[in-house]
Amino acid sequence: MKIEHFDVIILGAGGAGLMCGATANARGRRVLLLDHAEQVGKKILISGGGRCNFTNINADKADRFISNNPHFAKSALSRFRPADFIAMVEDFGIAYHEKILGQLFCDGPARQIIDMLLMHSAPNCEIKTDVCIDNVAHNDGGFQVMAGGNMYAAPSLVIATGGPSIPKMGATGYAYDLARQFGLKVVEPRPALVPLTLGGDDVLFRELSGVSADVVARAGKTEFAEAALLTHKGLSGPAILQISSYWRHGQAVGIDFLPNAAPGWLRAEKRARPRGTIKGLLAQGLSSRLAETLADRLGAGSGDTRNLADMTDRFLEDAETHLANWIFTPNGTEGYAKAEVTAGGISTDGLSQQNMEAKKVPGLFAIGEAVDVTGWLGGYNFQWAWASGHAAGQAV
Ligand code: FDA
Repeated sequence: MKIEHFDVIILGAGGAGLMCGATANARGRRVLLLDHAEQVGKKILISGGGRCNFTNINADKADRFISNNPHFAKSALSRFRPADFIAMVEDFGIAYHEKILGQLFCDGPARQIIDMLLMHSAPNCEIKTDVCIDNVAHNDGGFQVMAGGNMYAAPSLVIATGGPSIPKMGATGYAYDLARQFGLKVVEPRPALVPLTLGGDDVLFRELSGVSADVVARAGKTEFAEAALLTHKGLSGPAILQISSYWRHGQAVGIDFLPNAAPGWLRAEKRARPRGTIKGLLAQGLSSRLAETLADRLGAGSGDTRNLADMTDRFLEDAETHLANWIFTPNGTEGYAKAEVTAGGISTDGLSQQNMEAKKVPGLFAIGEAVDVTGWLGGYNFQWAWASGHAAGQAV
């Protein structure tokens, strides 16, 4: 069989693979990108509601990334910063804006980001889509990839096939199979940035589907102040998606429904407005349906005609405590079908933090979501895809 030779073969043409290819192209390397999807960068296309939240101006801070080794991502993130990607975006003439919390979105369609990466891939990247990767082998001369009935060979191979979140878009756990084939460890993957499901006593809240509130959500010592959304399955919204990446099965999630309330606020209200009700007070800051459910569950709901003056200070103090840390015990997540990313993945133990090369398999690289580095919601995951892709692209 005829073998086509390249300097580097990149498996997966998502954000990380495309950036790796573009970086290697700039160095004059002959690159082959293989992807089983019918088009490249499908997640870029749908990201950010079609506007691609392509980076976050805070994304060079390593504490925004979750990994068994929290220091691993620092090197790549410091050598390809948000400003470097923004410069590419500006050079290509893509208009963008900051939404909130440093999140940068295209003004127009996300497709522009793909066009920009493809422009940077010419002339040395050959891209083949709709190709099934049948087999990957390795010997002294490098890597041989059997794909779509053809044989390709290169001294460098990059695993950039992402994680299994959103399988209906073609996402797979193939990166982990390959990693194991080459003796790399895999940190147990799990859905992240994913809605949490409620059961038991908490199902009552599912009736409030569609109601949102600005809350602080907590799991263990981690907390996020953003919006939470009640859904027909449980909890979603940015605060919940963020906390889901830290949440482990069986763990409680605490919600502060009134994060701006000062300690002692209910007792102060009792003195100032003794004829007020808890439900009425809650409805000033929260939707009336949520206010009613919370008041009910505190024992001061619609059937409760008591004014604040009729309630003891002790009762009000307990109510405040409860509202500031309302405990939900999710019974699971909505899984990979709804997870924006996959946490865990190819262990960083076996990879160089400088260039993402496998320490024990020279020439093998792993980048992007396939690796055990997961960003917060808000452009961090793309910045990791760009930074890790760039680091490997300079070394292949
Ligand atoms: P990615 O999954 O993008 O690419 C992997 C590629 O490998 C795909 O093209 C796939 O087809 C291919 N592949 C997989 N298995 C294969 C196999 N067996 N053979 C051949 N090819 C294979 N992040 C962010 O920072 N800002 C945002 O706005 C969003 N928005 C967003 C919305 C939605 C709905 C989702 C699901 C995700 C996001 N994300 C995000 C996360 C972001 O999309 C994600 O972190 C990056 O796309 C990861 O880039 P990778 O290149 O590592 O994987």
